[in-house]
Amino acid sequence: MPDVISFSAMLRERSSQAHSTSEHAGFMSDLMSGEGTRDDYIALVAQHWYIYEALEWAADRMKHDPVAATFISDKLTRLPALESDLEFLVGPDWRDEIEALPTTRRYVDRIRQVGTMWPGGFVAHHYTRYLGDLSGGLFIGRLMARRFGFETNGIGFYIFEDIADPKAFKDVYREQLDAAPWSDDEKERVVEEVLLAYRLNTELFEDLARAKAETAA
Ligand code: HEM
Repeated sequence: MPDVISFSAMLRERSSQAHSTSEHAGFMSDLMSGEGTRDDYIALVAQHWYIYEALEWAADRMKHDPVAATFISDKLTRLPALESDLEFLVGPDWRDEIEALPTTRRYVDRIRQVGTMWPGGFVAHHYTRYLGDLSGGLFIGRLMARRFGFETNGIGFYIFEDIADPKAFKDVYREQLDAAPWSDDEKERVVEEVLLAYRLNTELFEDLARAKAETAA
């Protein structure tokens, strides 16, 4: 009898290369290694604001879809934390100070597109961001806090106050992925959309590096 691999395990396996590429993108690895600056960190927070505004708008659209709704939880909502972080990091006029980079605009367009018409695609984007935030994100937040002397202001995005046990939360999330009533074709489309989400994250790091080089020039 062939081994049967769960959809969540398959998704993780099929995206592990893309994860590694994203994780090791220069802009991100500089931030992690200590070569990135506080301004670099702020530039990333600003792009997150656009992405989560789209993602949480899409979640609101999708909350009545029977499959998508099982993944949506107020405990994950990041937009208010991002807004407090930007207020702290940039100041009260932060909205006038930030601008979406080209990849962010493409990323946001794609999230809004799937958010109006494709629950599986929405789940793909939801999974790529929130499960990442509940995994490496927790570590990134602690590292940025130590590096730039933040306590909670400035890294609120990485603090999930309503999720006491991220591992247990992720286990339930994976069970929900496994229980989603998707055909094999639909599962394949979801995997492809997760790979697209990873590519967009990697390209965003490339945009951030380019924008930094242009400012320095
Ligand atoms: C420096 C950057 C990063 C580090 C250090 C990191 C680290 C990690 C680690 C250690 C895990 C495994 C946790 C576990 O086994 O439960 C993980 C999982 C994950 N990461 Fe990252 N990550 C980074 C960047 C990213 C990026 C940019 C994304 C995409 C936006 C991402 C998305 C994910 C996802 C979706 C998972 C869950 C995979 C699964 O279990 O299905 N990560 N990350």
